[in-house]
Amino acid sequence: MENQVFVMDHPLIQHKLTHLRKKETGAKEFRELVSEIATLMCYEATRDLPLEETEIETPMGKAVTKVIAGRKLAFVPILRAGLGMVEGVLTLIPAAKVGHIGLYRDHQTLQPVEYYHKLPQDIESREVIVLDPMLATGGSAVDAIDIIKRSHPKAIKFMCIIAAPEGIAALTKAHPDVQVYCAAVDERLNEIGYIVPGLGDAGDRIFGTL
Ligand code: PRP
Ligand code: URA
Repeated sequence: MENQVFVMDHPLIQHKLTHLRKKETGAKEFRELVSEIATLMCYEATRDLPLEETEIETPMGKAVTKVIAGRKLAFVPILRAGLGMVEGVLTLIPAAKVGHIGLYRDHQTLQPVEYYHKLPQDIESREVIVLDPMLATGGSAVDAIDIIKRSHPKAIKFMCIIAAPEGIAALTKAHPDVQVYCAAVDERLNEIGYIVPGLGDAGDRIFGTL
């Protein structure tokens, strides 16, 4: 299947993203914005969930209406920064399960190092949405999806807030079956692998570890 990259240009997402990028935005507001953007992105990323008809009774009589057809979801944040998106997506889909993948980038090599993973046991019957605010070189996303694929979920989507062109290229090459959702594709990576203009280090800004 061909990769599909969706850039979500909804005005509410773009407005919140501007505040998220500002260097004077403190940790509390940063966390709130990440969560709100995740909710709005999740609304768009689940647009293709299948519906089925059901018969109900309103105070006025019988009606045939629609509900989501049994497809089950799991969210998998990449630690640490992906954690900031979990509450926002669970606002929309509280019944989803949540797995975790722990990866950090080695600052010298920029290669991801895995330190933890725990996925839902029934992941084979679920569609997975991977969460991480930043797609920079793409190394973390590619490795996280490699790990998830070993458990054979039904399908995988990747949701980030800011992507670098380099990260999109790496992810779509390694996993052409994964749909990528982002709020912005920025100019480039700098010499130490940070997205420019980006927003800095997402994990540090969420958890105040700057
Ligand atoms: C950041 C970010 C991604 C990764 C992206 O995490 O949250 O996981 O970098 O970079 P890549 O596309 O080049 O792999 P980081 O490694 O800083 O860990 P942290 O979330 O624990 O701070
Ligand atoms: N990780 C971040 O948090 N920010 C970047 O710009 C790149 C990787």
